[in-house]
Amino acid sequence: MSEKTSGAVSKLQLSTPEISPKTVSKLITLKVKRYDPDAGRYKLSIYRISVTRFDTVLDALLKVVRDQDHTLSVRYSCRMGICGSCAMMINGVPRLACMTNAISLGDVIEIEPLKNFPPVKDLFVDMDQMFRKHRSVKPWLIRRDEEEQFTAKKEYLQKPEEVDAYRLFSTCIKCGACMAACPTVASNPDFLGPMVLAQAYRWSADSRDEGAHIRFDIVDNPNGVFGCHFAGACSAVCPKNSDPALAIQLLRKSILRGKR
Ligand code: SF4
Ligand code: FES
Repeated sequence: MSEKTSGAVSKLQLSTPEISPKTVSKLITLKVKRYDPDAGRYKLSIYRISVTRFDTVLDALLKVVRDQDHTLSVRYSCRMGICGSCAMMINGVPRLACMTNAISLGDVIEIEPLKNFPPVKDLFVDMDQMFRKHRSVKPWLIRRDEEEQFTAKKEYLQKPEEVDAYRLFSTCIKCGACMAACPTVASNPDFLGPMVLAQAYRWSADSRDEGAHIRFDIVDNPNGVFGCHFAGACSAVCPKNSDPALAIQLLRKSILRGKR
């Protein structure tokens, strides 16, 4: 992560206090702001729950579902920071619930659905628009030869330094945390957003790709790479340290230098 973006981390108070080894379990309060699709509004549910020092926020929520309120809807799959489906606002910061220790957040944890996404029910949100934007920048290898594009007959070898050009940005799991943290996405729903722009750069920086000029035409506008105000919040919250803010600056540089 760049120096600029690591400054934003402390601003968002992502650090968590040390947990005493003597702490075995503790009663905490979960304040869950959940969306009620029938009423078309949010409501607050408060739960008291015992968590161990190893429980994540997702574990705590699943205990609530199991023992107290089976109507609470939570989306998750891998429980290990890989699938990207459990992102939600935790104490005001977009995080993966399965990678956030519960007990270290204090006695009260405030949870709500991911910002900048339409809510569907309780804590899960509609990510269709993000994935539509993602598809729009053609996140795959493009080859000039159309026949080769669909029936490649050889491997495309890469040197380690060629992999290094995009490796950092290939760790993105499309969780949407950066989109939820981005002030430009909040004020302009047409802005492509950090995840999408970072992926436009990831594929364009790949030595096997021949489609950078196509993607650059798609993102070279105020709703694309020039809509970014470089707040840096995207990189500050990224659970994979994928640094989308850096990718956006590299994408902008490539476009301005006319590398097509
Ligand atoms: S860049 Fe980071 S925060 Fe954004 S979608 Fe990818 S993994 Fe999630
Ligand atoms: S459940 Fe897969 S990332 Fe959290």
